[in-house]
Amino acid sequence: MTTTTDHPTTVPPIDEAALMDFVFRAVGEVGATLNCALVVMGDRLGYYRALAGHGPLAAARLAELTGTGERYAAEWLNAQAAGGFVEYDPDSGTYTLPAEHAVALTDETSPAFLPGFFQIAFGTVCDAPRIFDLARDGDGLGWGDHNSDVHDGCERFFRPGYATNLVSTWLPALDGVVDKLERGARVHDLGAGHGSSTILMAQAYPASTFVGSDAHAASVATARQRAVDAGLGADRIGFEVTPATGTTGGPYDLVTTFDALHDMGDPVGAARRVHDLLADDGTWMVVEPAAGDRIEDNLNPIGRAYYGFSTLLCTPSSLSQDVGLAIGTQAGPARINDIVTAAGFSRFRIAAQTPFNNVLEIRK
Ligand SMILES: C[S@@+](CC[C@H](N)C(=O)[O-])C[C@H]1O[C@@H](n2cnc3c(N)ncnc32)[C@H](O)[C@@H]1O
Repeated sequence: MTTTTDHPTTVPPIDEAALMDFVFRAVGEVGATLNCALVVMGDRLGYYRALAGHGPLAAARLAELTGTGERYAAEWLNAQAAGGFVEYDPDSGTYTLPAEHAVALTDETSPAFLPGFFQIAFGTVCDAPRIFDLARDGDGLGWGDHNSDVHDGCERFFRPGYATNLVSTWLPALDGVVDKLERGARVHDLGAGHGSSTILMAQAYPASTFVGSDAHAASVATARQRAVDAGLGADRIGFEVTPATGTTGGPYDLVTTFDALHDMGDPVGAARRVHDLLADDGTWMVVEPAAGDRIEDNLNPIGRAYYGFSTLLCTPSSLSQDVGLAIGTQAGPARINDIVTAAGFSRFRIAAQTPFNNVLEIRK
């Protein structure tokens, strides 16, 4: 006779109330899952902007203002009301977007802006069937192999936070860096994506020069266009298609990496390259998702969202590359410290934190 701990012979009694609690919680999750697409729909069709700009609206009026079918507007509004995103007034049959929700759903400059977060989640979920197949063999999927909602949503999600924090708080939290930027420094933004962080820094520090690099050619093309749109000349800013381990130039006074180190296949190799290209008194600012060092530190709503992105987006990105270390989106500061120490850096400090980010100062 064989016994195994995988197949207990006694089944614990079922607590029916706990079972139904869990089922009803899961019903809420199904509604939230569908709401991801509904938020992208409201953003793309202009529903939220119309509600924000016109006060209480009936479905027919929302449809008219947005040039959409009334039955769609009506069902979308009811889903939004059931989820508490809009308020419904049964007496007038109208729907209102509360002022605070209007900020979060329509103001692209607010750090509370949400549609970018939903857009990257939506794009990620749309590509999930590919991940299900790849996960069987532990294979990866490159950042550039995703649909454009992932890339555009990423830019729209992160940019407001950078616009709010980067120049006002994060750079001043680094030892002596703002002085150098004001006097004229050489800066490299590694894994720059669409370049929003690079452009914000270039706009703030006209005496300094900036290079952004990324392994994804289409993102670099977008970053170049964004710099032109911002009126920044080639003498101030440039973007290159380069994997982090092949970064060129230097010596740099400041290297920055925003939400990209954990996406890389070889973060130790990237860190070694930064070490080679950084001036002796230079600084590497690594901005990573907010995370603690232990799994149990991250079992909260932010950790949940990031572990989701980690499973479907960031870990596959790393696994698609050479080395494929796949540290995950919630690696935590201690793991990043181990990586940069292995690459030769000796000083490491958490310089700033927000609910969404850890800002790390790394020096030789
Ligand atoms: C989550 S996005 C962040 C983009 C940008 N830093 C931002 O904050 O908006 C991660 C970026 O890392 C880039 N990336 C991943 N692996 C890379 C590598 N090995 N070398 C350079 N860039 C890489 C991806 O192409 C992608 O643009």
